[in-house]
Amino acid sequence: MIDKLNKAKEILKMYNQEHLLQFYNELTEVQKSNLLNQIMSINFEEILYLYEKSKTNVLDTTEEAEPVKYMIKDNLKDNKLKKFTNSGIKAIKSGKVGVITLAGGQGTRLGLNAPKGTFCLDTTPPISLFEILCNYIKNFSLKFNVSIPWFIMTSTNNYFDTINFFERNNYFGYDKNDIFFFTQDNLPVINIDKKLVLSEIYKVNFASNGNGNLFTALKKSNLIKTMEQKKLEWLFVGGVDNVLLNPLDPVFIGYTINSKCKVGSKTLFKKSPSDKSWVFAIKNGKPTIIDCEMFTEEISELTDNKGNYLYRETNMLAHLFHIDAITKMSTINLPYHRAFRKNAFVNEEGMKEVPEKPNIYKFEQFVFDAFSYFDNIALLRVNEEEEFAPIKSFTGPHNPEIALERYERYVLNKQK
Ligand code: UTP
Repeated sequence: MIDKLNKAKEILKMYNQEHLLQFYNELTEVQKSNLLNQIMSINFEEILYLYEKSKTNVLDTTEEAEPVKYMIKDNLKDNKLKKFTNSGIKAIKSGKVGVITLAGGQGTRLGLNAPKGTFCLDTTPPISLFEILCNYIKNFSLKFNVSIPWFIMTSTNNYFDTINFFERNNYFGYDKNDIFFFTQDNLPVINIDKKLVLSEIYKVNFASNGNGNLFTALKKSNLIKTMEQKKLEWLFVGGVDNVLLNPLDPVFIGYTINSKCKVGSKTLFKKSPSDKSWVFAIKNGKPTIIDCEMFTEEISELTDNKGNYLYRETNMLAHLFHIDAITKMSTINLPYHRAFRKNAFVNEEGMKEVPEKPNIYKFEQFVFDAFSYFDNIALLRVNEEEEFAPIKSFTGPHNPEIALERYERYVLNKQK
């Protein structure tokens, strides 16, 4: 252990992180050994590089941005609607469609101490976000008598809690052999003084590295092979927190298949040009999502000759990837973005402190950065009121009350 301690001290000195061993002498032997192992496993070079590299967001101009084509679901003519619905149902029925749920987030804004998917809507009886998603999948599976594999990405921290929750709830009546849990990577968080942070006196604080880690995480867990063995052709990729998200919307699936694109995405209309959501555009010839700061209000008002806005399609985390696209992305390292978040930390006195304001940076890859690796994308604008009610925080527009009200209106009432 002495050797390891000396080696750890040497590394920490080199990267100016000696504070991580500040409470070392107060720890039990097991805690000491765990902390040293953790320190030895950290790639300090990488984390400090990410910190420096992402310090400034370089905004280039919109000069090379072009509008990306999209279709509006509500405006689809009957024949088109029928065509897309039929080909979506055909793909689902023949077992070609699987679902991926991104459930590795920390849910910091909700202040949860459990996987976000375990959060319950206040229905009678209460229903968890995982059960809501499962019901959508189960209904299609029963209706078409087909197995629909469900892949759930968790963080390393909430992996066992997630599985235990499913166990306790008897997998919500879904076949447990059709549910595959896998973990994503994580990275240490760093504070404004460029110091890594302790979450306990014996533990460095790590956070999951963003939902864009999906592709490499699938590869690491060998699940791309499983998808191929099951002859899946299309994988729906969505978040865990939108109670109106139907992962098997036949119209969207059929629309993407008919577009001949390898990737599709549902979009929402950005109502106000001053709203901060990022928008879809073509950049350097490839589809991408661009920081709204790069668009002036004037650009946001631009329309085509039919009056359709050119730069008002925003992301709602509802995508469809062809298996070839998933395979391709699993060999690519997506860039990192930096997020400033509130995280509990151990202060200089060794006490756990919950900050009132954001205090740490975490580094995240985003699924949508995958789009620019393809020549085109099938975008389908959907009705926000009917398809988008995520739960992000107790206050603000995406709160549990609004989600409950819309879930009752658009899901429960339709079942009556
Ligand atoms: P959000 O950005 O809303 O993050 O994630 P969050 O973790 O749910 O909440 P905050 O920001 O900490 O308050 C959008 C979706 O991406 C998933 C989340 O679980 C959610 O479904 N996600 C996010 C991951 O799977 N992994 C991550 O590392 C981050």
